[in-house]
Amino acid sequence: MRLDYYLAHAANLSRKEAKIAIARGRVLVNGESKLKANTSVTDNCDVILDKKSLSFQQNRYYMMHKPEGVVCALQDDEHSVVLDLLPNEIKKELKVVGRLDKDTTGLLLLTTDGQWLHKITSPKHDCPKTYLVDLADKIEQDAVSALEQGVLLNGEIDLTKPAKVVIHSDKQISLTISEGKYHQVKRMLAAVGNKVEALHRSQIGSLVLPAALPLGEFQELSQEQAALLV
Ligand code: URA
Repeated sequence: MRLDYYLAHAANLSRKEAKIAIARGRVLVNGESKLKANTSVTDNCDVILDKKSLSFQQNRYYMMHKPEGVVCALQDDEHSVVLDLLPNEIKKELKVVGRLDKDTTGLLLLTTDGQWLHKITSPKHDCPKTYLVDLADKIEQDAVSALEQGVLLNGEIDLTKPAKVVIHSDKQISLTISEGKYHQVKRMLAAVGNKVEALHRSQIGSLVLPAALPLGEFQELSQEQAALLV
C-alpha cells in the first residue's frame, strides 16, 4: 500500500496531513527517511511518525446469518443482540452494517470500517439488497408494477426508489432495493395492500448468503471480498 494511505489509517491523519508529514521528514520506514507519499509499504514495515512507532491494523469484515429473535443494537435490555453471537476476541470495535428487524433472518454484515459501512448503507451509493418475502395475500400484478415504479410509504413525502421484483409463487417474491428506511420492505408491502409474514435477506451487492452458513453463525470476509461490495 502507499505510505500516505498507511499513515492516514494508522495515525488517523488526513491524506493531506500524511503527505505533509512525509515531506517534512517526520516519517521513517525501516530506518529510511527519504520517502514519498507513494512509497510502497506493507503492514510488516517498521513505520515511525514523530519518533512514535505505528502499527497497521487491517479493517475486518464479517457476514452473519442472523437468526430470528436477536436485535441489531449494541445493547438491549430485553433481547440478545447480534454481537452476543460473536466471540469476545472479534467483537471489539465491530459495527453492524445497517439493521434487520428482530424477526428478520439472513445476511448481516459487520465491520470495523466506517467508510465501507457508509457506502453499503447510504442510499446515495445504490448498493442493492435482496429480500425473500413471504406474504399474507396473493401478490397482484398492479402491486408488482407499483413496487417497481416506487411507492409512497406511510409518513414519507418521496416515493421509494424503483425496486426489482421477482415472483416465486402467489405469496412469495424477492424484492431488491437500495434504500434502507425503517421497516422499508414491510412498509412497501403495506403500501400496496399486502402484509409481510416472513422476511429473509439473501444478498447484499454481489454477496449471496452462503447456503452452508447456518443460522447464528458468522464467517470472515477477505479484504478482496469486502472490496467487491463498494
Ligand atoms: N425491511 C424491513 O421491513 N425489515 C427488515 O428487517 C429489513 C428491511
